[in-house]
Amino acid sequence: MIDLHSHILPELDDGARSLGESLAMARMAVDSGIRVMVATPHCAEDRTREVYLAWKYLRRALQENEIPLRLFLGMEILGQPDTAKLLQERKLFTINGSRYPLIEFPFQGDGKEETWILYSICKAGYRPVVAHPERYVFVQRNPELMNLWHRMGCLLQINRGSLLGRFGGQIRELSWELVDRGFASAIASDSHSARMRTPRLDDVWRQASRDISTLCTRKLMVENPGKIIKNEDIPPVTPEWF
Ligand SMILES: [Fe+2]
Repeated sequence: MIDLHSHILPELDDGARSLGESLAMARMAVDSGIRVMVATPHCAEDRTREVYLAWKYLRRALQENEIPLRLFLGMEILGQPDTAKLLQERKLFTINGSRYPLIEFPFQGDGKEETWILYSICKAGYRPVVAHPERYVFVQRNPELMNLWHRMGCLLQINRGSLLGRFGGQIRELSWELVDRGFASAIASDSHSARMRTPRLDDVWRQASRDISTLCTRKLMVENPGKIIKNEDIPPVTPEWF
């Protein structure tokens, strides 16, 4: 499996607090069947040097400790009015240098500014991968907004924890609805540590295989994430509109 969203880099954000914790997370990911992971620390402005150095440091430590996890570089970018400009100036990292940036928003918003920000990113030639849309209050209140985001060319990444009910029943239902209707392009761990919000995907793989078919699960946890990392096109889908 390929995990597009993780806070595995040490001492950069609210994720891994030490190199030891990063390595424990990496071992857990491999144990759960993840072979490729994208490191996506929270970023709102230029932190490229700091993030790049942390990524290189952890990659070397993975080799030295013989942990078979391929780690790619990325960021979880807080969407702001100047995000498109910062992307064009290469002051923010997309997922492995592709045209796919991982974008998050504050949980409380009204959806309007978020839509404009995503529109500006699309217009600049990128395809935003929106992190955990099911966790935003404005999406819970108005899932019809996903019709517009889909038409704009956005991709949606759903969290493993949402699907497993870790953020409550309402978020669990919405996340499965986004998957069932065909709006979801990827499922990722959004892992923060080796104890809570862990980098496992085997449990959600099993549940999704049972509930939506192994073929669709493969698409969300292997094929689409692989295409995103390689900067390839994601085959177009027509969802069941809200
Ligand atoms: Fe995250």
